[in-house]
Amino acid sequence: MAARIDAEQAARRAAELRAEIEQHNERYYVHDAPTISDAEYDALMRELAQLEADFPELVTPESPTQRVGAAPLSAFGSVSHAVPMLSLGNAFDAEEVQAFDRRVADTLRGAGLLGPDESPEYFCEQKLDGLAISLRYEAGKLVQAATRGDGQTGEDVTSNVRTIRAVPLHLKGEPPRVLEVRGEVLMNRADFESLNRSQAARGEKVFVNPRNAAAGSLRQLDPRITAKRPLRFFAYSWGEVHGLPGRQAELFSEPAPGARQQSTLPHERHSAMLDWLAELGLPVNKRHNRRASGAAGLLEYYEQVGGERANLPYDIDGVVYKVDSLPAQKVLGFVARAPRFALAHKFPAEEASTRLVDIEVQVGRTGAITPVARLQPVFVGGVTVTNATLHNEDEIRRKDVRIGDTVIVRRAGDVIPEVVGPVPDKRPADAREFVMPKSCPVCGSAIERTEDEAIARCTGGLFCAAQRKQTLLHAAGRKALDIDGLGEKLVDQLVESGRVKSLADLYSLTAFELAALDRMGKKSAENLVAAIDKARTPTLGRLLFALGIRHVGETTARDVARHFGSIESIMQADEEALASAPDVGPVVAGSIRRFFAEPHNREIIELLKAQGVHPVAEAGPQGDTLSGKTFVLTGTMPNWTRDDATRHILAAGGKVSGSVSKKTAYVVAGEDAGSKLLKAQELGVPVLDEDGLKALLGM
Ligand code: IVH
Repeated sequence: MAARIDAEQAARRAAELRAEIEQHNERYYVHDAPTISDAEYDALMRELAQLEADFPELVTPESPTQRVGAAPLSAFGSVSHAVPMLSLGNAFDAEEVQAFDRRVADTLRGAGLLGPDESPEYFCEQKLDGLAISLRYEAGKLVQAATRGDGQTGEDVTSNVRTIRAVPLHLKGEPPRVLEVRGEVLMNRADFESLNRSQAARGEKVFVNPRNAAAGSLRQLDPRITAKRPLRFFAYSWGEVHGLPGRQAELFSEPAPGARQQSTLPHERHSAMLDWLAELGLPVNKRHNRRASGAAGLLEYYEQVGGERANLPYDIDGVVYKVDSLPAQKVLGFVARAPRFALAHKFPAEEASTRLVDIEVQVGRTGAITPVARLQPVFVGGVTVTNATLHNEDEIRRKDVRIGDTVIVRRAGDVIPEVVGPVPDKRPADAREFVMPKSCPVCGSAIERTEDEAIARCTGGLFCAAQRKQTLLHAAGRKALDIDGLGEKLVDQLVESGRVKSLADLYSLTAFELAALDRMGKKSAENLVAAIDKARTPTLGRLLFALGIRHVGETTARDVARHFGSIESIMQADEEALASAPDVGPVVAGSIRRFFAEPHNREIIELLKAQGVHPVAEAGPQGDTLSGKTFVLTGTMPNWTRDDATRHILAAGGKVSGSVSKKTAYVVAGEDAGSKLLKAQELGVPVLDEDGLKALLGM
């Protein structure tokens, strides 16, 4: 087809495609609201690339196809910043924030810029954990990009930055003659993880965290490599601004220390400046930026962002407060290299480095062996951490973690702490590699690892005390037999003394013998016996889940229970019959079959019956009123727990999911609902309270 269109048509179509692609870039990176799929976007790019191949005279440096990266450099040039790139003062607690607000208020009152009863107005932003960059646009075109360097002089990374799709190559609307935009280059956590996976697969360097990956990607001498890295950009400030279009009042000049040029700005507020940058097509983190007044407003923002931190797609290391009024900023001025009008309020670090003292292994319920790092205690994510997971043997090799290394430990939110990787420069000469033991440290049985699995397992089965303990704890869990008061310490004692060898033995425990154990009083022993007694009539689904059959989670257990109706018919079913239950595939069917083929497991069922354990039939779905509808629960409801709500929704044929999307039918929000509620409001997903949900369920 290319051959049949003339140069004029080609030029027109190329212009059309570029405009369209840029619009999609903007929707994606600036507004976070794409309107086409990746495949459709790729098709537009391919069409443009083909046109440019057929008509090479159409290629411009600004064309979106040019984001693939130019030829490699031998070294970066240096760039001296027209307006220096400053750093920020830090605060680590509320008192320091209050002191900052007091200083700001006092200075502004002294200058007559704030009334005696007024609080300063701030603009609050997330402190993005990437690297600072300065983009220089002349006549609306990106002409230079530089790293921060020492604040005065940075490295020229223009060719690399040109490959970042979130960075517009030319600005929209009416840009000034010169505009320096400052912001952060970063990488989303998911992109970082998939980058590391493919790096590892190709035997190349893996990165410790998204910030290092972003920095490493930007400081590549070969821009074609940078082009393949999923970098993002958000603007949060500016440097030199010159030659505004039209007759714009010269409202405010910002002479930062050492500035060569005086800048002329179109707006009097930081927030309005960011809106202006967004209008020019630059990505601004609008969704999370907020105005606030006084120290109380700042601290409220800090708490809110702290709560959202774990759910963000990228890492942040705090929040930044900026006095919103630019004339007020000017009065406040600078100390040393940091402005007096802004403050970074840091979150507890999610990562810290410490020494890996040893690697031991833990045995799980199914015999899975997890290597655990024993660490020199380190304060991270707000708590002192002494153990961290290393997941499995391959992971240790992939990360090249050795005993004796200084390692980076990460604890994000309430997630189990993990070892991210070693600090190679600090490796001692006597660092040792981890060797997977050949036998189980608890029961001495062989440890085996099949070829298709990443996990090594103790082959001891329920002969292994570690597996017995974990099996009992699993069975006593809230979603299984729900035996309140049967915790780890107690299970340890019961298993180690040999009193409890299987689930069935639990049911013969007496209050008298329990009361004699460590940490048990008469009352708690009686309560536990009562809880065990209650667990004589679990639903069939709960009992099946409690047995801890591999691949049988609570939902599968419930489905199978509903389908078969009794434990006997499940035990008798062959694989084909099992696979006929809803949502049961060959893997699950095979696993259930193998479990009940084991005489030992059949015996446990007999022993349970002898102890008076009689599961009750699983209630069938109460109807299909909510069939196909997905719910997301957030916050605390006045009467129902989330488990209650989940049970009722499932019983009515609905589904429950953890994250809000356009496909979510309803968000059920209780007290202190967080980011999920915001997301629902943004996407226009209907929001219900507990009563609304009950009404929907016909209750
Ligand atoms: S403003 C004059 N805003 O934090 C103020 N910085 O410690 C200049 N950063 O080098 C910086 N998010 O890399 C500002 N929303 C934000 C930020 C932010 C991250 C980084 C930036 C800067 C460092 C200062």
